[in-house]
Amino acid sequence: MAHSSDHEHNGHSGHDENGHEHPRHPYIEFQHVSKAFGDNVVLSDVSFQVFPGETLCILGRSGVGKSVSLHNIMGFLKPDSGRVVVAFHDITDYNEAQMEVIRKKVTMVFQNGALFDSLSVGENVAFPLRERRDLDEEQIFQIVDGLLDMVGVKPMRDLLPSDLSTGMKRSVAIARALSAQPECILYDEPTTMVDPLMATLLGDLIQKLKTQLKLTSIVVTHDMRLAKKLADRIVFLYEAQAVFVGSVAEMEKSQHEVVQQFLELDALVVPGRD
Ligand SMILES: Nc1ncnc2c1ncn2[C@@H]1O[C@H](COP(=O)(O)OP(=O)(O)O)[C@@H](O)[C@H]1O
Ligand SMILES: [Mg+2]
Repeated sequence: MAHSSDHEHNGHSGHDENGHEHPRHPYIEFQHVSKAFGDNVVLSDVSFQVFPGETLCILGRSGVGKSVSLHNIMGFLKPDSGRVVVAFHDITDYNEAQMEVIRKKVTMVFQNGALFDSLSVGENVAFPLRERRDLDEEQIFQIVDGLLDMVGVKPMRDLLPSDLSTGMKRSVAIARALSAQPECILYDEPTTMVDPLMATLLGDLIQKLKTQLKLTSIVVTHDMRLAKKLADRIVFLYEAQAVFVGSVAEMEKSQHEVVQQFLELDALVVPGRD
């Protein structure tokens, strides 16, 4: 985690799960990405890389362009200039049909969970499984059971989303994302508006998915504590630019004034941090 950028290319991500070295191609990459909405310049020449199996945290204040960054990865938005690589492919000019293929590999967990309100928890998670059309009811039941267990909401299987807390809805949304067997999950503010215990549980869950399923992840957050727990690498956005890219340890040594302010503010507002 504390590799300097010179050493990054020899870091753990240069090896696959069997310990074999492989050429380091980023799974996701922003190459000089710029995006504006009219006069509102949201991203200006932003570059970062996420290697297979890594977790990148995108930090920054509300409105700085964190969700816009994720939407560019999902192909919901296109950059004005620069290139976007996802699942090792340059998707910048991909059309919707091509993006559908990418979205089977990379799924996004939205802030509100985006669950189907009229479907039970179990049916929400089963949804991507039913779309596959190659599983029978018993197989679907077992897979859903396992996924709900994994994210800690197994007893809620027959409830509706409206019966659940915000944090539980997010857990169900994560289970539904997993049922599509993705290689990568993008989490948009997973711990916002949940109580500290639930925030800890969600952070633990994201970490577990990284280590057990070797998922590549991007976690958008302004929760520094979460970033410290999860991030192999951090991108700090400020005034449309990536003013810092590096490890947590490097971030703590950053001389950038706004990065320092962010770390100091976090020290004030988050009790009980380690
Ligand atoms: N589809 C859109 N059309 C116009 N402006 C947008 C759109 N999406 C986001 N924005 C603007 O881009 C800026 C960054 O938004 P966002 O990425 O959602 O911020 P955050 O970092 O809080 O996730 C905001 O000023 C927002 O109003
Ligand atoms: Mg956002």
